[in-house]
Amino acid sequence: MTCPQPILITGATGALGRAFERLCAERGLAMRATTRAELDITDARAVAAALDRYEPWLVVNAAGYVRVDDAEHDAARCYRENALAPGMLARRCARASVAFLSFSSDLVFDGRKDTQYVEHDAPAPLGVYGWTKYEAEKLILDEHPGALVVRTSALFGPWDEHNFVTTVLRQLATGDIVRAALDTIVSPTYIPDLVHACLDLAIDGECGVWHLANLGSTSWADLARTVARLGGYPTELVEGVRSCELPWRARRPAFSALGSSRGALLPSLQLALERYYRERRNTSHANDPRGKVFSSTAYGRVRADRRA
Ligand SMILES: NC(=O)c1ccc[n+]([C@@H]2O[C@H](COP(=O)([O-])OP(=O)(O)OC[C@H]3O[C@@H](n4cnc5c(N)ncnc54)[C@H](OP(=O)(O)O)[C@@H]3O)[C@@H](O)[C@H]2O)c1
Repeated sequence: MTCPQPILITGATGALGRAFERLCAERGLAMRATTRAELDITDARAVAAALDRYEPWLVVNAAGYVRVDDAEHDAARCYRENALAPGMLARRCARASVAFLSFSSDLVFDGRKDTQYVEHDAPAPLGVYGWTKYEAEKLILDEHPGALVVRTSALFGPWDEHNFVTTVLRQLATGDIVRAALDTIVSPTYIPDLVHACLDLAIDGECGVWHLANLGSTSWADLARTVARLGGYPTELVEGVRSCELPWRARRPAFSALGSSRGALLPSLQLALERYYRERRNTSHANDPRGKVFSSTAYGRVRADRRA
């Protein structure tokens, strides 16, 4: 019996990479997930060797430089990991007739629109991270016109500890005041929904730029209030602040909600949040969050007892 060709996943230690690994296994899809130590996407030789060794039918590039604020003073590395490396991966995949999927971001837009951004809207990034993502989109599709580039936004999932929703819950559980931007509108995206939609698109042989985000848009502050309400915490613990009051180094679009002219594949944000809570309750991650390490880039944090 011959083994089925696998899906090769990069960035296996990341939130998205781990979710791909888990959901491929659940769907019975052969897969090989690689960490940076096993496959550094900036290393052309390692990429060629991995393609030879695993003979995948699809490469999912879930690796990347994701620290939006750090990118402002680390542009060369951000460009290498977010643009040059995916471009090189796409070239190698095209040569080997392997399908390729990589991720872009709502931060390719400048936020001047007041209706949801769709795939053919013109990118105009405000910061380094968004610029590297836009450069990546062009490089990938030049090198591999059959590649799939998924723009997505504000990821949250039940199996990692460092996303906005999970971190807000931790803060609320310890009685902290959550300070979140009231003037920045995004389309939060539930990672399991994103992964399933990506796998479906890749299996169907779809290509080009797709927008995948849960239906609906919200400010970070309103998202935090919804999280509080669903988690049974007082919404008064959430303080909406202007983004200029947060320790954001990079400029972000005031409005970057994603819609699609190709097909709205993901369910509503409300349903996604309900399933997030159910899944957290059902997994070992749902233990008492008190005492765990906080990690946040999307908002500020002050303890209630330290407020003026
Ligand atoms: N998170 C969001 O809200 C969001 C929104 C839109 C788009 N995206 C995109 O979605 C993708 C995945 O994001 P994520 O949230 O899963 O990020 P994440 O949790 O920070 O994971 C990033 C992963 O990339 C790996 N990595 C970085 N440089 C690498 C390299 N040179 N070679 C191999 N692996 C490397 C990291 O490995 P180490 O653990 O070794 O550092 C880590 O496994 C990224 O392209 C990101 O830009 C994310």
